[in-house]
Amino acid sequence: MSAAPHEALAGATADEVLAWADRTFGKSAAIASSFGVEDVVLIDLAQRHAPRLPIFTLDTGRLPPETYDVMEEVRRRYGVAILAYAPERAAVEELERTKGFFSFRRSIDERRECCGLRKLEPLRRALLGKSAWVTGLRREQSVTRTGVEVVETDAAPGGILKLNPLAAWSEADVWRYAREHALPVNALHARGYPSIGCAPCTRAVAPGEDVRAGRWWWESPEHKECGLHGRGGR
Ligand code: ADX
Ligand code: SF4
Repeated sequence: MSAAPHEALAGATADEVLAWADRTFGKSAAIASSFGVEDVVLIDLAQRHAPRLPIFTLDTGRLPPETYDVMEEVRRRYGVAILAYAPERAAVEELERTKGFFSFRRSIDERRECCGLRKLEPLRRALLGKSAWVTGLRREQSVTRTGVEVVETDAAPGGILKLNPLAAWSEADVWRYAREHALPVNALHARGYPSIGCAPCTRAVAPGEDVRAGRWWWESPEHKECGLHGRGGR
């Protein structure tokens, strides 16, 4: 493949993108998983097409118990290691001692401070020395994601490649795959949570509401990125 996978893989299937990542990068690419249904689909596909890619998760310390349940189920089902990256202990202690346990509700800046400490700093460590990372982002997910490409160059972690094999998948595609393969899914999905992040920043959505309406629901849609994906969040 040419030096510009952006164009070459733009219309590729998820299987093809993962196989290309495995061939091209092996262990120097990694799959980022929050263990929502998209990410379990991605991990299942990767077992066949990109088995060398490590899987990591940002264990913010505020995840719901249902997320740990599915993480453990995935770990056992596939016999894979889940590389957990936790936030710096001293920084969390300082935040909680000085600002309390719900500072992220007070302003967008304080929410970004918490996401910075619990997600972005651990992400930086997870991606150290990597050439590419793989996510479960889909265009349909929100107004901040309509421009998601299958292959992007991610400025934040030093210009490495970001691969989004499911960019063009619909929610129905994701669930069809999950059912056909009897995948373990986060129990919160069945309780009205289409998108799942930290427990205090995620709620169920009403029928017909946007899929990310339950994430940081007190903020307006264009702000609802935590900085992992650089669109509107920072
Ligand atoms: S978020 O930025 O708003 O939290 P979202 O929950 O939609 O993102 O997930 C989009 C993708 O970001 C996931 O498919 C996954 O690749 C990555 N991601 C999100 N949260 C985490 C996490 N805690 N650990 C690892 N990857 C994550
Ligand atoms: Fe903090 Fe909420 Fe961001 Fe989690 S989602 S890191 S609890 S602000």
